[in-house]
Parts: sequence; C-alpha cells; structure tokens
Amino acid sequence: MQALRGMRDILPSEIPQWQWIESLIARWMERYAYHEIRTPMLEYADLFYHGVGDDTDAVGKEMYIFSDRGGDQVALRPELTAPVARAILQHALHKQSPTLRLWYYGACFRYERPQKGRQRQFHQVGAECIGYREADADTEIIALAWDILSDATEPGTIELVLNTLGTEEEQRQYRDVLVAYLERYASDLSEVSQQRLRTNPLRILDSKDERDRSIINAAPTLHAMLSPESRVHYDAVKELLAALSIPFREDPFLVRGLDYYTHTVFEFRSTRLGAQDAVGGGGRYDQLLARLGGEQLPGVGFGIGVERLLLASNIPQQSSTPLVYVAADRAHHVTLHRLTHTLRQKGIACTTDLQFRSLKAQLRYANKLGCSFAILLGVPDGGEATIKNMETGEQLALPLDADRITEHVATTIIADHS
Ligand code: HAM
Repeated sequence: MQALRGMRDILPSEIPQWQWIESLIARWMERYAYHEIRTPMLEYADLFYHGVGDDTDAVGKEMYIFSDRGGDQVALRPELTAPVARAILQHALHKQSPTLRLWYYGACFRYERPQKGRQRQFHQVGAECIGYREADADTEIIALAWDILSDATEPGTIELVLNTLGTEEEQRQYRDVLVAYLERYASDLSEVSQQRLRTNPLRILDSKDERDRSIINAAPTLHAMLSPESRVHYDAVKELLAALSIPFREDPFLVRGLDYYTHTVFEFRSTRLGAQDAVGGGGRYDQLLARLGGEQLPGVGFGIGVERLLLASNIPQQSSTPLVYVAADRAHHVTLHRLTHTLRQKGIACTTDLQFRSLKAQLRYANKLGCSFAILLGVPDGGEATIKNMETGEQLALPLDADRITEHVATTIIADHS
C-alpha cells in the first residue's frame, strides 16, 4: 500500500527541520502577541462555498468534499481563514474582545496536480487580525509574515508583491470594464482564461500563459477606478511599509485565488522555489464575516505554506540534545530499567536495547544512534558500571547504583554538553 498521491509522510529524519520552523513561527507569533486557535479539519462544505467562493479553484475544483454517514456535505479544509471566521462567530469571540489577533498552524487539502512545492495535503501557518479597518492592521500582518520569512530564509530571497482590489463595489465595476476589454480578444485567450471570462474574470489577470500575458499587460487596471478612500488606505499601507523598511513591488494585476479579498492583497515569492514560487499570501477581507452571517467585522491576514517555507529556508545544522545509551545483559535488566527511569526523570535522554544483544552489538548500535555516552551495566564482572565517552573513548568506573550514576551523568556529562 502507498500513501495517497500528493500526500507525504514526514519521516523521522525530517522532523528536526519541521520542529525548527515550528518553533521559529511560534516565537514570532508570541512576539506579536497573537493567540493560537485550532479548528477541525472537516467543516460543512457550505462554509467554503459561501466564505471562499465556489468560482475559486481551491473550492470549486480542488476541494475534497463528501457526504458523511449522516448525509451532511462536508469538506476537508482547503484553507483556514473561513474556519477561523466561523469559530469567531460561533463562539462570539468578538463579543469578548472587539479586536482579535489569532494565529493557526495545520494541514490543508487541495486536489491539485502534485509537483515540487505543491501537494494535496500541505500545511499552512497563518495569522488573522480582526476588527481593525485601519491600514495599520494590514501593515502589522505583512510585517509579521515578513519577519517569519526573513528569519527563516537567506537575505534577498523573498519578494513582497503588493496590490489593492478596492471595495466589493469597485471590483464589480472593474469586472465589467475588464470583461468588456477581454471579450475583444476572447478567441486569442488560453482555454482556461476563456472559461474564466464567464466564471471569474479577475483570475485571468493571474494567468501565466504566454498568449494571455500580452493581452493582460495592456488591460485597464483597477487602480484607475479606486475611490479616494480606497486610495488613501492603500497609500497608508505603502507608507507604513516604507517606514518599516520592508521592500515591496507593486503589481496592479495581482488578484490572488480566493474570493473574499477587498483592498490590500499581497504575496511573498521566493527565488529558491521553482514554478510554485508563492511561499505565502494574504490580504484584507472586510466582508467575509458578514458573508458567513455575522456582523460587518473587518479582517486582514496571511497564510504561509510550510512545505514551501522549508524548501525556501536556510535550515541551520541541528544540534541534537546529548543522548545516553545504557547497555546491559538480561541479568541486569531491573537495574537497567531503574537507571533509565531515574535518568529520564532527571531530564536526561537515554535509550537501550530491549533484546539484550551482545555488548559489542549494543555499542555499535549506540554509535549508529549518535549517542554521546554509553553506560555499561555489570561490566566487566557485575559489581560496577562503566561510563564510556563515545567521542573520546575515555572510561570511568562507578558503583552499580542508579542514583549515583544519574547524579554523575547529570552533573558532569550533560553539563559538559550544555
Ligand atoms: P493561499 O494563497 O491560497 O491563501 O495559500 C497560502 C499559501 O499556502 C500559498 O502561498 C502556498 O505557500 C501554500 N499552498 C497553497 N496551496 C498549496 C499546495 N497545494 N501545496 C503546498 N502549498 C500550498 C490562503 O489560503 C489564505 N487563507 C491566506 C489568507 C489568510 N488570507 C487572509 N488570511
């Protein structure tokens, strides 16, 4: 049997990198005083149809959807912004505090064609800043994502691309203008874009197809149609980013793939990724909570793909905590368990061979595991324990007493390594 296509096991050898990135992320979330929230992986499919939009690829084409045994239409979450919005409304979190700063980390599912940096099950970390209309919130969210990405990657490898989509009304007006323009070239557009002309014309602006690009480059932009208020908001975001020395490039055709965005949208791209170079993205969604039947609560947030972040990262050599090996023959198995139990309770990591193979085999095994020290019980002839430094080969004999051995290991061996 194999795992499903596009779904990867994260093997023990990869876990240190994951733990490194997870603790880096948690550190930044703590510094920005965001609170973690965890929501279920399964939601009613309607949450995504209403929240994210059924014309989007993530929901309309790629969502894992099925009826559960009770006959409800449920979906594996393709993203976490809509679930977080649902949780806020369900638990009336906004009544306890009118502004919320939340973050999350978890698996998402999209039935896409797998390739480097694109999987069907992947992980996202994200943050949502709810209740603020001000451009200051957009900037805080971008700065938080920027800090995580800058901390994890080589300088100069991440680019921030920025745009504004204005209000829903401005988007509607722009959609009409864009459709009128694109219809003139409809037969020259790629097949996908021809379909999108009917379903989600703004997404055509995202197309990478050569045939579409030359048509798009000459298309009218939404910027020309922005109201003075929308313009002020966007200018304020740009000024604040400049004040924080966060470099960005404006792209008037950046639209993003999800339907809930208004005003600011942004994407982070890495020079270290291939075709799937978007390591993260996000934007403002002032209508999402109202769309889900709640109040008009504005919000802004980002999501970063953790697999892509790891591919884009500059992962440091992991320094592992010293591991102690305790070798014994079957005759000493009670002492072995007493000693390992005491060592672990003192916070010292240790492991053993539970088959009691020959001493030589056990030492080979300890070497393979990269243990710093081995404690040999009852060697050579029962009365003593030998503590062997696996790097230098140095040996020391101690009485066979769990407490004394533990104390020695704790005070000398581990202290040397810390
Ligand atoms: P998104 O751009 O759809 O935004 O996804 C965010 C990130 O998830 C992408 O930039 C990418 O790194 C990663 N990602 C998406 N699909 C895949 C895939 N199939 N395989 C691997 N990685 C993938 C959102 O999901 C929004 N909820 C972000 C947001 C939060 N907007 C406002 N708040």
